[in-house]
Amino acid sequence: MLSEKLLNELNLQIKHELASANYYLAMAAHCASEDLGGFAHFFMIQGDEERFHAMKFYNFINDLGGKVKIYGFEDPRNDFQSLEEVFTAALKHEQFVTGRIHTLLDLANQEKHYPTISFLQWFVDEQVEEEASMNQILSKIKRLGEDNPGIYMLDDELAKRTFTPPAAE
Ligand code: FEO
Repeated sequence: MLSEKLLNELNLQIKHELASANYYLAMAAHCASEDLGGFAHFFMIQGDEERFHAMKFYNFINDLGGKVKIYGFEDPRNDFQSLEEVFTAALKHEQFVTGRIHTLLDLANQEKHYPTISFLQWFVDEQVEEEASMNQILSKIKRLGEDNPGIYMLDDELAKRTFTPPAAE
């Protein structure tokens, strides 16, 4: 049985994951407008991952007999001056999501709600990867500089990103 407090927080996480998908779609659109198709593709795939994260919470709440609630969210940022700004914003956002997951885990631990503790472990690990991925690309952009032709090699590299939902592997 989920407490009302834990249920509310799990439902809020659906909102944050879906909002993340929106943020990354806006970042994809920005990169596409700069003719950086590989970067745009990277963020489209990131959006797919975020919707997958949202659905994991959706299914978990349903499985525990709770009622899912869907909330709206603010407009994403659509304007960026550089790739460095895009990836700095993406990294900052992932750090926010990591904080959310840790807060949720703290609450589940306080309530000794073992199914939620177990469920959240996947997200704890996933957030380490999400932050590392944004951080690595940000470091490469800083090292190269925005006007370096190497940016196009990075664009080609990012065009290869794929996403297979774990359950389907
Ligand atoms: Fe679902 Fe990127 O956190």
